[in-house]
Amino acid sequence: MTNHIFRLLEEEGVPTHLVEELSDRETAVKKVEIVPLEVIVRNVSAGSFAKKLGIEEGRQLLCPTLEFSYKDDALGDPFINKYYALALGLATQEELDTIAKYAFKVNEVMIKYFDSIGIRLIDFKIEFGRTADGTIILADEVSPDTCRLWDKETNEKLDKDRFRRDLGNVEDAYEEVFKRLGIK
Ligand code: TMP
Repeated sequence: MTNHIFRLLEEEGVPTHLVEELSDRETAVKKVEIVPLEVIVRNVSAGSFAKKLGIEEGRQLLCPTLEFSYKDDALGDPFINKYYALALGLATQEELDTIAKYAFKVNEVMIKYFDSIGIRLIDFKIEFGRTADGTIILADEVSPDTCRLWDKETNEKLDKDRFRRDLGNVEDAYEEVFKRLGIK
């Protein structure tokens, strides 16, 4: 799924780590140093946003939001802002500007694409890396593990929340997304 979406994003001008899909289990990717930030974009209230702000899940936001978490499992990936990222040397201002530009572009492309296959893009998490020459590119993955995807008609959850919330039918939901993406 990641390769499918990364190909689409490349066509739309977002550079990614994708080099070549070697088999259905192996992909050649560009070597990067991961920027230790989880970059989260939200279009609709859900998950930690809904909980933290006491807003019901499913409320359409007036504009997309962008937030960062510091990638550190031991600390539980705490929420930080761009000043923290600069102060800790996690990324430069220029890199943060590039990351924000690409994150909103990824959102724009994915909203349109998922909408065309009957899916509402609620929110997602992406990660970026630096290549040897310091170029920022999209890395890691984009999948139902890292996005909230709701059926446009029924609002049925077609993502990892089925697992996180013990809703059952996790594999069926992933298969459904796979099918709608047209992946064989
Ligand atoms: P959140 O509402 O729990 O903060 O999650 C926001 C989005 O980020 C959601 O699409 C799930 C994704 N996500 C990850 O991919 N990995 C994580 O570790 C977390 C916390 C969220």
